[in-house]
Parts: sequence; C-alpha cells; structure tokens
Amino acid sequence: PVVGHSRPHESAHLHVRGAAPYTDDLPEPAGTLHAALGLSPLAHGRLTGIDLDRLRQQPGVVAVLTAADIAGENNCGPLLHDDPILAADELRYVGQPVFAIIATDRELARRAASLAKQVIQAEPLPAVLTALDAHAQGQYVLPPMHLTRGEPAEQLARAPHRLQGSWHLGGQEQFYLEGQISLAVPQEGGESLLVHCSTQHPSEMQQLVAHALGWHAHRVTVQCRRMGGGFGGKESQSALFACVASLAALRLNKPVKLRLDRDDDFLITGRRHGFDYRWDVGFDDDGRILAADIELVSNAGHSADLSAPVMARALCHFDNAYWLPHVAMHGYCAKTNTQSNTAFRGFGGPQGAIAIEMILDGIARRLGCDGTEVRQRNFYAPGQDVAPYGQRVEELHAQTLTAQLLASSRYAERRAEIAAFNAASPVLKKGLAFTPVKFGISFNVVHLNQAGALVHVYTDGSVLVNHGGTEMGQGLNTKVAQVVAHELGIPFEQVRCTATDTSKVANTSATAASTGSDLNGKAAQDAARKIKARLAALAAERFGCAAERVAFDGGQVSGGGQCLSFQDLVAQAYLQRVQLWSDGFYATPGLHWDKAKLQGHPFYYYAWGGAVCEALVDTLTGESRITRADLLHDVGNSLNPALDIGQVEGGFIQGMGWLTMEELVWHPTTGLLTTHAPSTYKIPTANDCPTELHTALFGVANASDTIHRSKAVGEPPLLLGFAALLAIKDACAAAGPEGCDPPLRAPATAEAVLDAIDAVR
Ligand code: MTE
Ligand code: MOS
Repeated sequence: PVVGHSRPHESAHLHVRGAAPYTDDLPEPAGTLHAALGLSPLAHGRLTGIDLDRLRQQPGVVAVLTAADIAGENNCGPLLHDDPILAADELRYVGQPVFAIIATDRELARRAASLAKQVIQAEPLPAVLTALDAHAQGQYVLPPMHLTRGEPAEQLARAPHRLQGSWHLGGQEQFYLEGQISLAVPQEGGESLLVHCSTQHPSEMQQLVAHALGWHAHRVTVQCRRMGGGFGGKESQSALFACVASLAALRLNKPVKLRLDRDDDFLITGRRHGFDYRWDVGFDDDGRILAADIELVSNAGHSADLSAPVMARALCHFDNAYWLPHVAMHGYCAKTNTQSNTAFRGFGGPQGAIAIEMILDGIARRLGCDGTEVRQRNFYAPGQDVAPYGQRVEELHAQTLTAQLLASSRYAERRAEIAAFNAASPVLKKGLAFTPVKFGISFNVVHLNQAGALVHVYTDGSVLVNHGGTEMGQGLNTKVAQVVAHELGIPFEQVRCTATDTSKVANTSATAASTGSDLNGKAAQDAARKIKARLAALAAERFGCAAERVAFDGGQVSGGGQCLSFQDLVAQAYLQRVQLWSDGFYATPGLHWDKAKLQGHPFYYYAWGGAVCEALVDTLTGESRITRADLLHDVGNSLNPALDIGQVEGGFIQGMGWLTMEELVWHPTTGLLTTHAPSTYKIPTANDCPTELHTALFGVANASDTIHRSKAVGEPPLLLGFAALLAIKDACAAAGPEGCDPPLRAPATAEAVLDAIDAVR
C-alpha cells in the first residue's frame, strides 16, 4: 500500500538542487515587460494628483497605470468590495499601491516607482494607527460579532475567584520565501489571458482579474505549479499583483511580470492580525472556569479582506480544549490606516486559543498550582462536551494525549529538576510549560468545503492527476498522488500531479483551512474509483469472475485466480473503448453554520495536539531560548508520516517564532512599518530550533470518514508554539517572588522579557 508510508515530497529532489521552477523561473516570453508599484507615502490622505509626465519620462518606462486605467472594477477584495487595486482618491496606509510603472526591465520600473513620494500629490488626513484607538472611536471594517452561552454575567458575579486582565499580542509576517509574483501573458491577440500566479487561490484570482478587466471568467486562465510558501499570505493577497499584471498586459498587449521586492512585499501586503484582549473570568478553588467574558479586538487594517472569517475562527477557538459553561465573547475588527491583515496559518484560531491559555496560566499562578493540572481539570469531558457555538466535541482526545505526552516528556520529574536548578541559579532561570491544541477542521463557510479533481490514465498505464488544491511546500501533491496510486494499486512513481489550472478544475476553493488533502484527496479518490470500476468490469469479463472480486495491487490486477498487469489491462481497455479518465468531486458532509448567530456545526472534526517546552532565560539580558520541546500531535491515520512530522515541526517553529521573536513595529506618528526586511524582522532560523526536539504522531484513526481516516495537519501544529511563550513566562516567574504573575507580552523579545521581570521584581 502506498498510503500511510513515508515518502519524500514529490519535488524534494528538485527543491534541494534549486531546480524546481517557481513563477519567476518560468521562461519569459519574448517582449516581456516588468511592472513596479508606486506606494503611498501617507498613512491617510486625499489624493489630489500624480505627476504622470515625470514618470513617463523616466528611462525604460513604457506606460504608467493609475486607477483611471482600470476598465472593470477597481477592487481586489475577496469578500467585501472595499479593497482598491490602485488608490483612487483616498490614501489609506503607507505602502498602498497608487500607480504602476511598466518598463523594459525590472530595475528601471523600480527606479521610476521609487519617485512615488515626489510625484504623488495629497493632502494629509488624521490617521488611526492602532487597533485600540480605532476601537475607542468605534471604527470597524465589519459589524462587531457576539457569541454568548449561558448566563456569564450572573455566574461571574457569583464565582469564588475572579481574574481580570488585558493583553496585547503582535501580528506576524508570513515571510514566504518566494515573494508575491504574477506573470500575465495575453493569448490570441488579447482575446484571452494566461496568468501565472503564485497563489493559494487560482479560482479567486481568475474571478478578480476578470472583474478588473470587465471580462467573463472564461477568458482568464490562472495557473500555479508551486509556491515557495504561502502560509495564508497568498490566499487573497496575491490578487492585487495578478490584477495589475493583467491590466498592464492587456493594455500593452505584451506579457507583463510583477515580482515584488521583499521590502515592498512587507509594505503592501497584510499579515496575521495582532489582537488586543480584555477579559473577566470566574473560577473555583480548583481553577475550573465557571464563566468568562472576553473582548477581542483585531487590527484589521484599512479594509475587510478576510477579517470576518478570521475573527469567526478566533471566537470558535477561544475554548481551545476546555469546557466553558458560561461565556460571552465580543469580536471587533478594528479599522486602522495600516496594511489589510489576512490569513496566516491557523486563520484566527491561534489568536482565539492563546487567550484562554494566558487566562489559565494566570489562574494557576493565582492559586499556586501547576498549570498543567488546572488545564486537565478544565478539559472537555463526557457531558461537558459542547463548544460555545453549539457543536458537540465527539473525540475527546485531550486526556489521553496529554497523559501520553506528560509521561514521554518526563514532565513531573523535570518540573522538580527545574525548581532545583532555579533555586541554585540567580541569573539564568528555567521554565516549563504544557499547552494542548484542539483545532476545528473545515472552512467556517459551508459551501467552500468542496473540491474537484481530474484523473487521466494514459494507454501506457501512467497516470496524470489534476486537482483544485495548490502546492506550497506542504506536500499536497504527494499525498494526492499517493491516494490515487493506492486506489489503482500501482506504484507511486506511476502517478504525477500537474500545475493547478483554472481551465482544468473549475470553481475551486482556496487551499486553506488545512483542508487541502481532506478535500482534494477525496475528490481524486472519487475520480480514480470511477476509472477503477470501469477497469474492474473489463477485467471481470476477462477473468470470468464478479467485478467485486477484482483486486488492484502492486501494479497487478487479479481475480478468479488470474492476473494481468495494470498496464496490459489499460491497453486492452483503450482498445475496447473504455473511458480511461474521469472527473471526481467531494463535498464535506454534515456541516451547517449560522453566521449571524455564530452557531452550528462548522467543523467536520477536530485535530488535537500537545506540547511541552522548556525555556532558558538570561534575566540580565532578557535573552531566551527553547532548550527542549516535546510535541505530540494527532493526524489520525497519517497519509505520509514524514510529511506530517515536517508539518508538525514547521508549524511549531512558526508558532514559536510568532510568539517569541517576530516583532512588527509601525512608526507611531507616520504609520510606516519600520520592520520591513529580514534585517529588522527576525524569523526563527535553524539555530533557534530547540536543542532537543521530540516529535511524535498520536496514531489514532479519525472517527470521521476522512480520506483514509487521516486528519488535516497544515495549521493546527502552529498552536503548539504556545508552550514556548508560556515556558518563557514560567522562567520569568522564577525571577520574581513566589506566586507572581509576570505580565509578559507577545512576542517575548528580550525587551518584553526584561519588562516582565522588572514588573514582578
Ligand atoms: N507548509 C509549507 N511548507 N508551506 C506553506 O505555505 N501553509 C500552511 C500549511 N503548511 C504552508 C504549509 C497553511 S496556512 C495551510 S492552510 C496549509 O498548509 C494548506 O495546505 P493543506 O490544506 O494541504 O494542509
Ligand atoms: Mo492557511 S492560513 O488557511 O492559508
């Protein structure tokens, strides 16, 4: 069997040789022109003019595009149409694209675009730069969302203990290694357009490009063979670049490429929403939460983008793995004069769940007991298993998974060892923390949970698979090819996946919400099964047995005591005029969601996990590092353990980076994002990886009927990184008096650590 076995990523041999072509590596058609964007120098202003003549006179410049040149709709917003491709009359943030230069080469285009500050004429307007300022002024990109269960106010008033607090959590840059890029190539003399785009959502790019051009979708084809990472940043935000390249290509009837420089990528595009919280929680003597009231304010930026579903997912993950009998949650998407924030691995789930982890940490410190015990007391359990949004949590894996992880990581013994170490070490302090993960799988919007695939079997027995998902390094194509090879009983090497292409599978959903292999795996399996059924019928005739008795395995087809190679059977099928290709389709069953009431059954199932982290903190410099991490994560029956472990480790490190070192700083008066390159924005490297890292898969089959009973793995492990932050907080607590609760913000940079220690000393 091909499924369930570790095998390298289908392009690994190309990745390591630097030979896997990304969009910028595709050969440029003759006459390709290059675009660069001129960016707003103001956080907020009224655009009064642009000195276009000056731009047109610059060396190499072929054309300058502004909002006035957009034939169709000037919008690249995915849900609300509030996201201009190029600024029309209002400047909304420093970095907003205002005009596009099209030049003979990229350097000349960038040189002309860099005159933005000199050529843009605008009157400054007052800017709102922080989410809390916007919240105070009641400025939101969407109406507030409220989710309430039980009688939180009454139960809070009655609770024996109360914890009230507020907390700030930073955002996070996706930092895909391959930046945003699109290459638009007019076809048939400008009758149609082919767009090569690094995107997680080719179908949406097709729609938005068509709208910008004022065309029907059938004139636009979008293709993506692979991305050098997306992490949510290329779900909606690849659209602006696809639209500009397409508008320019059509205007000039020449291929146009728009590849962003890293600094511009930072300045133009949004990222993970930073959040501000205010909470009021009631609990009993054992630390059991009786009621919680929480306000979540996200920094949405200047437009809605995906802020609504991100906030909905945050509200649906505040419970994490815990039973909250009485709860009130209030979500506000603050409108600020900054980049429009968007999807990032976890899609709001991490911002929701970390709040309850901070709360439980505070409760444990208040009661003077171990944080892990307090967590275990609050876990969902039989009879206490309905999430605040009304869905029953069916697989209660938290208890077993946690027990297994605490044993394998020697949690209790190490807790004692660390206490002994800290007692003898005045400057260096150690900390230890455990956090669990429960993450809902499915798009919160029911209709998005569908997928299509196209499987071709050629007469030589080789197989080509196309599906609606996109490959961003996560191994989706490998998993889908495994599923098809498994179904047809042929070796993996006989199956290839091709580029995602809107002309092959229509109306696809974004490869997002970790659903890629769940949806596309099932769709490809459906297609393969249709072909297999036709082949089985033919083989049954040959073998003189029932079609149900025909088996496909190891490249052989057998039945009734006879055997034939898959290849020979396929060759015969072709001669018999049997259709050797098929489409496939899948729609996740049983989902419903009332987005006004925030109630329903939004998730097909949950993925579970747990992490134990140990941190070492230098209390004089504030420096910290994670010295050991033990991760145990639930992927159901793994389709490919090697890929899944890669996702678990990658997700954990990315979560750790977000919470411990990646800091975004906007200038407090101009609104310029000052951390717009790797020189000032620090992502974790191999050197930041815990010295000791133990990763294991939980190994229990999914109770829901997913593809081979596997579970989605793309995003949930990011939440394992919570334990890194809380281990650092634990070390900070060891620097203060017994029972103190250091007010550590995230990211826990050296400055944040010193501030937290100062506060408790
Ligand atoms: N892994 C790699 N290597 N690169 C990526 O860009 N994106 C993550 C996750 N893992 C990403 C990744 C995100 S945000 C999602 S939603 C899932 O992969 C998407 O792929 P899947 O649905 O196939 O898991
Ligand atoms: Mo992932 S944030 O759903 O692209």
